[in-house]
Amino acid sequence: MDIKSLAKEAIAAKENAYVPYSHFRVGAALLTAGGKIYTGCNIENAAYTPTNCAERTAFFKAVSEGEREFAAIAITGDADDYLYPCGVCRQVMAEFCNPKEFQVVLVNTESDYRIVTLEEILPGAFTVADLEKGQKK
Ligand code: THU
Repeated sequence: MDIKSLAKEAIAAKENAYVPYSHFRVGAALLTAGGKIYTGCNIENAAYTPTNCAERTAFFKAVSEGEREFAAIAITGDADDYLYPCGVCRQVMAEFCNPKEFQVVLVNTESDYRIVTLEEILPGAFTVADLEKGQKK
């Protein structure tokens, strides 16, 4: 899977964004270790807090279909610069992804993107390893 195709899927996924409140569309395309793509968009709600980001939509679709290993996610939004994932979505990524290897692709256009690793954007993530340390006491 090339990055350009993944970027294209994220751009297409943005079209389904349900954003009557912010009018800020976001699209994501999540690549599994096996080469499948799950897309997502943001889905807002009149009560505001139930809003789901595009990235989490993609992750939850994939995980609910049995996927557990991921290689990369492309993200694009209605911004005129690279859109970084919110903190909550970074934490969801940390649950499933290798921080040094998982690639977060910030997409402006099919040919204009920046790649960062999960570790770069979420250093010192809280993970199951921290829970296990607590259980020893
Ligand atoms: N949003 C995302 O979908 N992903 C992000 O990484 C940042 C924020 C959405 C949530 C909300 O629907 C809108 O963008 C404005 O915050």
